[in-house]
Amino acid sequence: MLKGKNEIVQNYLSSIPFDRRLYAQDIVGSIAHARMLAKQSIITNDDAKTIESGLLRIKEKIEEGRFKYNPEYEDIHMNIEAELYKEIGEIAGKLHTARSRNDQIALDLRLFLKEQISTVLRCLSTLQEILIRKAEVNISTIIPGYTHLQQAQPILIAHHILAYFDMFQRDKERFSSCYERVDVMPLGSGALAGVTYPIDRSAVAKDLGFSSVTSNSIDAVSDRDFIIEYHAAAAITMMHLSRFADELILWSTSEFGFITINSNFTSGSSIMPQKRNPDIAELIRGKTGRVYGNLMAILTCMKALPLSYNRDLQEDKEGLFDTVDTLEHSLTIFTDMIDTVQFNTEQIRTAFKNDYVLATDIADYLVQKGLPFREAHAVVSRLSNYAVKCKKNFNELSLKEYQDFSPFFDDDVYKLTIDKSISSRDVFGGTAPQQVKSAIERYWKLIKNENK
Ligand code: ARG
Repeated sequence: MLKGKNEIVQNYLSSIPFDRRLYAQDIVGSIAHARMLAKQSIITNDDAKTIESGLLRIKEKIEEGRFKYNPEYEDIHMNIEAELYKEIGEIAGKLHTARSRNDQIALDLRLFLKEQISTVLRCLSTLQEILIRKAEVNISTIIPGYTHLQQAQPILIAHHILAYFDMFQRDKERFSSCYERVDVMPLGSGALAGVTYPIDRSAVAKDLGFSSVTSNSIDAVSDRDFIIEYHAAAAITMMHLSRFADELILWSTSEFGFITINSNFTSGSSIMPQKRNPDIAELIRGKTGRVYGNLMAILTCMKALPLSYNRDLQEDKEGLFDTVDTLEHSLTIFTDMIDTVQFNTEQIRTAFKNDYVLATDIADYLVQKGLPFREAHAVVSRLSNYAVKCKKNFNELSLKEYQDFSPFFDDDVYKLTIDKSISSRDVFGGTAPQQVKSAIERYWKLIKNENK
């Protein structure tokens, strides 16, 4: 083979440009493995100590930027092992006893994801706290609630904001549940069939803080479900962020004008000086696409893999790192953005162009007077058409006009207001101020309990 071609092949095989990110997990895993080997008298205590201190010196080198990654060694495991030879000589060769890179990489990935999930959970809780605070501060602000992006019924903006609290709560549940599947220790599976030495897998698990050990060596080296689950949870969280970002974009338009996004998160246009483009919100929405893409990539990569380890699995890393970074950055930036968003209460008040959002309340009014709901709905539907046609608000119609549509209408129909509409939705989970206030209390308790 030509030298040039060799290099191309070598680069193609190599994962060191990206899996070097797992150096800390690789080292901590190796130390636990060496300790266990000594405890089981597979290597001597002195050798284990020499290995451990050599590995710690390598870690220091990497962290101080003194480590030279060698492209001749294709991945992080081989780079560290080669360096260990330089540090401690022949003893380095004992570390890989009763281990394969197949169970080693599974371990590294699991250690890595455990940390990442904990970070995401913290980020989500911080975001939720900011949402509760925003809801508290804006507790009396009313906006039109939308379905089909048509004004539907009045709601508290606090209620709208807290809808996202619930979404992010489900996201946390998904990540926590995924964590349980990640939190299983694969070392001891060897290449695929287990190992021939009297190892103590539970001791390694305990040392590394895992709750249990994998129970089938073949599955353990070829399983990437825990990564796929992480991707899926991340994709859903990004979808939530993207929906929220989209609403911020909409609400910050001059047509809506509900909010002003802090200028740290917008940018001006080079030719239109009046513009404040919501670039950050747009990027969060845009980056959601690549997170979906990473989920699709790993699912597709896995779909026809025979058991057990196959080199295809090396492709699990770049997408994972990309999603980990995209998710964490999106979450923290979004949190800062929403924290500094300003709600324009004056402008919001003018959002109700008419009082047609009270249509459901008028139907409910007729129900109270004894009309079955379906009939009441039909009456108000005719009434609305009429009001629209003569360009009148409901409260501008005369009682006579009302009564032309139903004899059940009386003077008290004029008491229906937007405030009343809101306070009458006094059901658990509804938009009545009392309900939203008690939701806020509940949410604080939830967050505080989780932080314990
Ligand atoms: N770099 C490899 C990966 O990321 C490590 C495992 C290699 N195992 C092997 N049998 N070649 O998957």
